[in-house]
Amino acid sequence: MTLQEVYLSGKKMLSKSIESSSFDAISIFELCFDIDRKELILHKFKKAPDENIKRFFKLINQRVSGKPLQYILGKWKFMSKTFIVEEEVLIPREDTEIIVNVCYDLLKGMNSPRILELCSGSGIISIMLKDKFKDAKITAIEISTKAVDCMKKNLVLHGVKDVKILKQDVLKFLPHNKEEFSYDLIVSNPPYIPVSHIKFLQKEVKQEPQIALNGGDDGLLFYRAIAQRWSKYIKNTGNIVVEIGINQNESVENIFRDQGFETLVFKDFYDIDRVICTKSK
Ligand SMILES: C[S@@+](CC[C@H](N)C(=O)[O-])C[C@H]1O[C@@H](n2cnc3c(N)ncnc32)[C@H](O)[C@@H]1O
Repeated sequence: MTLQEVYLSGKKMLSKSIESSSFDAISIFELCFDIDRKELILHKFKKAPDENIKRFFKLINQRVSGKPLQYILGKWKFMSKTFIVEEEVLIPREDTEIIVNVCYDLLKGMNSPRILELCSGSGIISIMLKDKFKDAKITAIEISTKAVDCMKKNLVLHGVKDVKILKQDVLKFLPHNKEEFSYDLIVSNPPYIPVSHIKFLQKEVKQEPQIALNGGDDGLLFYRAIAQRWSKYIKNTGNIVVEIGINQNESVENIFRDQGFETLVFKDFYDIDRVICTKSK
């Protein structure tokens, strides 16, 4: 088979069930043949090596069965950087750009800001913040060993040395040392899907770890924990910023208002309320 025949046949296999079949096919093609889309045009009549063809169709079949493209590629772009993405770790979402940008605005001009990220996953938020604010002191808390390992790899990949990771349960763990744990910013994109909704998610999303999605019976478990347990670690002048799911703005605002916070809501690219920024009154 020629390179072009391989690509077109993979694309055709995907087109039956995958909306973005061209993009997915070319991305998998680039991974397997180590040539980019421009080179494919130049060398389309070249014979494709058998070993690469075998790997290509294996991955195409995985994609047809619903494995997310990001897990197949093992990497994904978030804002200006490409991050390592591994199975059992949440795939970075475009929506999360909003929370990072809100944090950029809050931290502007601040000297050595102290930041706590709760539920850090692959580390995209902490790494984007550390990249922008080199003197920031960041601690990230995450329960999943897989996610912690993935975040460590991403820290190395992006040359970020001094972000402290604690493998802890944010619903149970509380630091004793309030001096050390006193922050200008607490940021979190926690699990926020109500448990009963998980079975209705897209088949790709269902392949992501439940622990990264499951926000308890009403999806609000982690917001309560952040407002009730973690807010005592925020300085008086500090902010707590959280990403939220669709239609959660009122409930999450109420949770923080009940603890004496003012709230401000930010929308995402699709005009959906996506981030809540809070400050003590
Ligand atoms: C929605 S993901 C967000 C990951 C990352 N911050 C991002 O934006 O891509 C939520 C993360 O919370 C972690 N998590 C779930 N329950 C937790 C708990 N009780 N304590 C700490 N982390 C938890 C999950 O493992 C997952 O990595």
